[in-house]
Amino acid sequence: MNQEEALRILKNGHNVYLTGAAGSGKTYLLNTFIRYLKAKGVNVGVTASTGIAATHMGGITIHSWAGIGILRTASDTQIQTIIRNKQIAKRLRKTQTLIIDEVSMLDADRFELLEKVVRLARGSWEPFGGMQVVLCGDFFQLPPVARVNEPLPRFVYKSAIWNNINLKVCYLHEQYRQGDKEFLGILNAIRDATVDERVVNRLHQCRIAAVSKSRRVVKLYSHNPDVDLENERELARLPGKEYEYQMVVAGVPAIAQSLKRGCLAPERLVLKKGATVMFVKNNFEKGYVNGTLGTVRGFNEAGSPIITLLNGREIVADSATWSVEENGKILAQTIQIPLRLAWAITVHKSQGMTLDAAQVDLSKCFEKGMGYVALSRVRSLEGLRVLAFNDLALKVNEETLAFDQELKRSSDKALCELSSLPKQKINQNTTSKTYSVEKIREKHSCAYKKWTADEEASLVSGFRAGKSMVLLGEILGRQVGGIRSRLIRLGLVK
Ligand SMILES: Nc1ncnc2c1ncn2[C@@H]1O[C@H](COP(=O)(O)OP(=O)(O)OP(=O)(O)O)[C@@H](O)[C@H]1O
Ligand SMILES: [Mg+2]
Repeated sequence: MNQEEALRILKNGHNVYLTGAAGSGKTYLLNTFIRYLKAKGVNVGVTASTGIAATHMGGITIHSWAGIGILRTASDTQIQTIIRNKQIAKRLRKTQTLIIDEVSMLDADRFELLEKVVRLARGSWEPFGGMQVVLCGDFFQLPPVARVNEPLPRFVYKSAIWNNINLKVCYLHEQYRQGDKEFLGILNAIRDATVDERVVNRLHQCRIAAVSKSRRVVKLYSHNPDVDLENERELARLPGKEYEYQMVVAGVPAIAQSLKRGCLAPERLVLKKGATVMFVKNNFEKGYVNGTLGTVRGFNEAGSPIITLLNGREIVADSATWSVEENGKILAQTIQIPLRLAWAITVHKSQGMTLDAAQVDLSKCFEKGMGYVALSRVRSLEGLRVLAFNDLALKVNEETLAFDQELKRSSDKALCELSSLPKQKINQNTTSKTYSVEKIREKHSCAYKKWTADEEASLVSGFRAGKSMVLLGEILGRQVGGIRSRLIRLGLVK
């Protein structure tokens, strides 16, 4: 389907999975939809699975949005702590439409945790508390990152929630990033798993491509150490004084160490005037988020770097604090300037970008889909220099091939349904999601059932023991709303 047809489905208020090849205009369409919603006064959560991808829509990571941070699963107590944060609880309750871009990199466990946090914060039994959910991405691109000592991540479509939210699939078939037929042929051959000798030879020729000096060439690597090395090399080439910033680490040693490892800012940050940098933290007041790119214009009297963003705005990058708290008490803290060098970036961070020119090193590819992501960032073969590639670089996930056929069929079906709708019926949030009592009881076994004396006694003793309504709801198999009204009826809360 095309962007206009997909937009009509989005405007109808359906939960949607928006997909299509790299460069088919998925993020562009999300931006159009976000503008439409904002103009209508709809409260929209704009997020993506990575910080840089979120910046393409002026959003934040889904992890920050929902307050789940680096958690993959969470106990009830942890969930309560999250939704006790007033700012997060208010955001989750008020949101009417949630947008998540680059969902191929969001793993099923985190997706399930996210859904649970949102539902409990809203005290609802409906998936995602009844808000419209728009997922966007392409499963031929990068899968979720596999972390050491964690079970292998699953694609988000393997989660039961995916099937429970009644997604309409919108598969965009047009191409906006690449106009070059030869290049599109190569990218489609990778996507369709039909790479032959001709494709391989053509990519080998890109090693000596003379990318025009007038374009800013972004260097893409699969691994962080190569990115760091390249950035240090570029920094060394710049003339001028070096400014060094050492991270301050304090608090309980084990927690402080893990905080330091998880922090995207380097322990020792060295900058010079002219360096290309990226912010690694959100600060809405100052006007940057994790992934915002810029250049060091100079340093102020206090020695803090002054950054010119791509849109021309200037920001003084003062130190920022990352901390781990428990019950309002700070257990550990790190303090650093929230920046890192960004001449080179990893392929993971590049997902979602459109680049004029890129130099790509795929010699150490370790993930199917990685080569497809890296190569599909540029608009034409002229802007592409491929230093090397290994066997995995031109492969995509086989499971995705089969699932992709299913997605195309679902998209055709959604298009047929759309054609049978009169155009004027389109209206944001008009879809009333109806759920049978049986369906609700799959999750909340006692929903709408009469309270027995025993249940009431458990409710009262649990409440007096300080258990939250959320937890009581989970224990007694009822919605938070049901718990609240019973407590009001019993005169225990106002
Ligand atoms: N309708 C349109 N009119 C003009 N330009 C467009 C349109 N749709 C997309 N583009 C441009 O095409 C390029 C690719 O679009 P976009 O980044 O939205 O693709 P995508 O499907 O999100 O790709 P990826 O899977 O890599 O994230 C961008 O430069 C975007 O601005
Ligand atoms: Mg995109």
